[in-house]
Amino acid sequence: MPTPPIDPTTTSAWQDLSEHESTLRPDLRAWFADDPERAQRMTLQLADLTVDLSKNLVTDETLALLARLADEVRLTDRFTAMLAGEHINVTEDRAVLHTALRRPADAEPPLVVDGQQVDDDVQAVLGEVFAFAEKVRSGEWTGVTGEAVRTVVNIGIGGSDLGPVMVYEALEPYVADGLEVRFVSNIDPTDLAQKTADLDPTTTLFIVASKTFTTLETLTNARLARQWLWDRLIGEGRIEDTDEDRRRAVANHFVAVSTALDKVADFGIDPANAFGFWDWVGGRYSVDSAIGTSLAIAIGPDAFGELLEGFHAVDEHTRTTPVAQNVPFLMGLLNVWYVNFLGAHTHAVLPYAQQLHRFPAYLQQLTMESNGKSVRWDGTPVTTQTGEVFWGEPGTNGQHAFYQLIHQGTRLIPADFIAVANPAYPLSDGGTDVHGLFLANFFAQTKALAFGKTADEVRAEGTPEEIVAARVFSGNRPTTSILAPALTPSVVGQLIALYEHITFAQGVVWGIDSFDQWGVELGKKLATDIAPAVQGDAAALDAQDASTRALIARYLELRR
Ligand code: F6P
Repeated sequence: MPTPPIDPTTTSAWQDLSEHESTLRPDLRAWFADDPERAQRMTLQLADLTVDLSKNLVTDETLALLARLADEVRLTDRFTAMLAGEHINVTEDRAVLHTALRRPADAEPPLVVDGQQVDDDVQAVLGEVFAFAEKVRSGEWTGVTGEAVRTVVNIGIGGSDLGPVMVYEALEPYVADGLEVRFVSNIDPTDLAQKTADLDPTTTLFIVASKTFTTLETLTNARLARQWLWDRLIGEGRIEDTDEDRRRAVANHFVAVSTALDKVADFGIDPANAFGFWDWVGGRYSVDSAIGTSLAIAIGPDAFGELLEGFHAVDEHTRTTPVAQNVPFLMGLLNVWYVNFLGAHTHAVLPYAQQLHRFPAYLQQLTMESNGKSVRWDGTPVTTQTGEVFWGEPGTNGQHAFYQLIHQGTRLIPADFIAVANPAYPLSDGGTDVHGLFLANFFAQTKALAFGKTADEVRAEGTPEEIVAARVFSGNRPTTSILAPALTPSVVGQLIALYEHITFAQGVVWGIDSFDQWGVELGKKLATDIAPAVQGDAAALDAQDASTRALIARYLELRR
């Protein structure tokens, strides 16, 4: 029997937070005016990340109560249990050890979980991935005609796609010249068709990335890719149309990453060309496992190693820092404050870094697949709201799209603003540093959201009285600002680990298993059941409900 979760609403901290909320009148203007130390006191350092929490709707008392809540639900104990390999993924009876993927090779004491020498296994696979990456990068690994690889196509979905693609985009300046990685995820055949349209099969390497190696989208795309490879190589006279040549083509142009190496072999990929990992790495926590093989090829083992160091630095901060100064835990607790006490339904993540343009999409899986749950880890119903909707787009694009609602809408939307001081592409416009101009927006937005603009200030600009109200900004719209020196591999690792542990903290307060994802199963099963109906099987069509039946029938009418 798992240790039952502690119902947060029964803690004294929760009762005190409720009372505190009922009397709190957030007033960031007054709070800053009355307390010159507020910004400094509420700005914390997390490895290379400077994290300013001061523009949140909290006082020192709020933060102290949230820290007490963390103590009462035993947040730190559960983090320690996770690091030690306890089976905190209760519904799947698994350890949760993504943090082990980035432990230094010489970490002491060695981590042994369920009889497995975890550190040794992690280092062994990392060594294989790095050796393979070096072979591809140096041209030692060739396609079936002896050509070096120029394009890597990663085929995967969910955690086997979102992490790698996000990091690839974030670290694009680190990608080796002459190498490109493309990512195919969607079972919509358009995705594969478009991504392969202009590729040379002789210089293309496919990585089939799937933890389970059963995912419909990935296996379908892998088969389509294999067919594309054969058709193109045979069509161009590069190989003969024989079983032996087809086998050689797959051997040279396909590798796999999976926990199910037997299924990899069934697909026709030589297990010698496959990189493993373990069931204790959740899909959405797997970018730093062999799932990152495409990245190791693109940015090289050294940069990949720095990425892992960045993750580890945040793991160490989270492990060793008291809650009151613990950045991931405090940010998770702030999210609890907004969701459960101030009624927020969503949370915006707004990177002021074009290279982080896939970061919000990545976080959507991390946060919502983890914490979108209605029962706790012992199967009892949750006692509070859980899992807010995460969303966002890079600034300044978002400013010209949805910021209106954040500034003046009726809903409370806490937002994280992320920026880097030194750009990868420092351009100047007639002597003006464009990055500075860009970041002026980052600073301006959080300032406008916090402090707003009063009716008197609007009037003082000579605004006609009838439109004064429309031009007032209430302020008191909470933000956290995260500023990094530059988008280095380490910083990217730090950002990911930060949000992993924010997600963890929220899950512990809510008492949910943040590491299963049963909610995606029903749709997968129904798609399999419905597939024959869509292919024209009358009995399968008849078995559907009236709406679904009519929709499929209409589809079949429209389909040429
Ligand atoms: O969407 C459900 C899910 O299981 C994710 O958790 C996972 O990242 C994704 O599918 C892909 O799974 P796999 O890596 O096993 O193909």
